[in-house]
Amino acid sequence: MGAAPGSWTQFSAARVGPHGLVVAVDLTPMNSHAENVVGYTGDFYTADVLQSLASHGPYNVLLSDAAPATTGNRSLDTTRSAAIAEHVLHLCGEMLIEGGHVVVKIFQGGEEQSLLKELRRRFQTGRLFKPQACRKESFETYLIGLGYKEL
Ligand SMILES: C[S@@+](CC[C@H](N)C(=O)[O-])C[C@H]1O[C@@H](n2cnc3c(N)ncnc32)[C@H](O)[C@@H]1O
Repeated sequence: MGAAPGSWTQFSAARVGPHGLVVAVDLTPMNSHAENVVGYTGDFYTADVLQSLASHGPYNVLLSDAAPATTGNRSLDTTRSAAIAEHVLHLCGEMLIEGGHVVVKIFQGGEEQSLLKELRRRFQTGRLFKPQACRKESFETYLIGLGYKEL
């Protein structure tokens, strides 16, 4: 989710191999044309896009690198990022298999601690992780949940 221009999708397609499937969505068109990738251009808040995504599920893993268009207003940007992260966590209920995993980008300085708490309630393990590849000055980090529990 939030897959354009397509490097995460390319990496994931290589990881799942020819018998796996990566379903990618973004507001803008993606570059990936691999045989094991299905791409959707659209908004993952809309019913038709959610229906298309659900039609390939439930999934082993949900990956969201989605971010709002930043305004420069840190408080507004973190609030919008948290809303996206919350939406993705909400979708785990219908999109993820029991025991599945989720990775969700969130801007730091907002609701990441309360979402981490929620993640830990719904997954066997939940943590925040900032990869080395993130620029030091960047305020993005990732919520990782391993082992989805049906509540
Ligand atoms: C940092 S970029 C993702 C980069 C991508 N992971 C890659 O490997 O190329 C964030 C993306 O989130 C997308 N996005 C934000 N809100 C979205 C929404 N509601 N529906 C679909 N995509 C969304 C943006 O269009 C943007 O392309």
